[in-house]
Amino acid sequence: MSGARRAPLNPTIILMEDTPAVQPEATRVTRSKAQAKANYDRLSKFYDLIAASEKPYIDLGLQILGLETGETVLEIGFGTGRAILAMAKAIGDSGVVCGIDISEGMLATAREKVQQAGVSHRVELSCEDAAALPYEAYAFDAVFMSFTLELFDNPQVPVVLAECRRVLKDSGRICVVALSKPAHSGIAVRLYEWAHRQFPVLVDCRPIYLQNELYAAGFQPVNIIKKSMWGLPVEIVLARPVG
Ligand SMILES: C[S@@+](CC[C@H](N)C(=O)[O-])C[C@H]1O[C@@H](n2cnc3c(N)ncnc32)[C@H](O)[C@@H]1O
Repeated sequence: MSGARRAPLNPTIILMEDTPAVQPEATRVTRSKAQAKANYDRLSKFYDLIAASEKPYIDLGLQILGLETGETVLEIGFGTGRAILAMAKAIGDSGVVCGIDISEGMLATAREKVQQAGVSHRVELSCEDAAALPYEAYAFDAVFMSFTLELFDNPQVPVVLAECRRVLKDSGRICVVALSKPAHSGIAVRLYEWAHRQFPVLVDCRPIYLQNELYAAGFQPVNIIKKSMWGLPVEIVLARPVG
């Protein structure tokens, strides 16, 4: 267990929104984890092409995560390893990047990239479920997750965030990049949710109440960037453990 003290929060950069008294619910995810795994196995060879528009938001997330030399970082749902390579560069030879993903196809694709980049000695990737992380408590300085939390059904989101909190040092931070559900959904969000309900395997994620979920899991957002992708709100949130 880490004896590190939690870094003080800087209230000047907290951009909180009003948290409703009754927590609203995101649309449910009805496809199974086995279906998610099969889907991402299929997509793994050309995922970078179909998801190219997400890259700027991942880069922004990595920017506010601000990894330093020697840090240990975990990425949940690393996909083809788009963030893994940048993180391996940031932490240098004295740091460690760990990553878990449920898809064997994604694991193979990401491992190939890591080998080609010559950073295998700093990177440990494995095939696991984010709801049961194979790491000890307080193992990481930072956790990163992009376009992955919104793949989990409502009861599973707190489970995944609790796992993030468990493996994070008290002084650590988490950055989550996700489609986010605004208080009043516009046409793009409503259309997307409709498509998700009609085609739960193909359109397998949906916007979530990201800030609420982070607060509920014991994190304090300290930097929130709001963007839009194809008319859908994207939030890039850096948060620190409280208590
Ligand atoms: C939409 S992709 C995003 C990939 C990557 N983070 C990016 O932004 O490019 C979601 C990733 O989460 C993985 N995933 C889905 N369910 C998971 C689970 N239960 N545990 C771990 N990874 C999961 C998928 O295999 C996929 O690689």
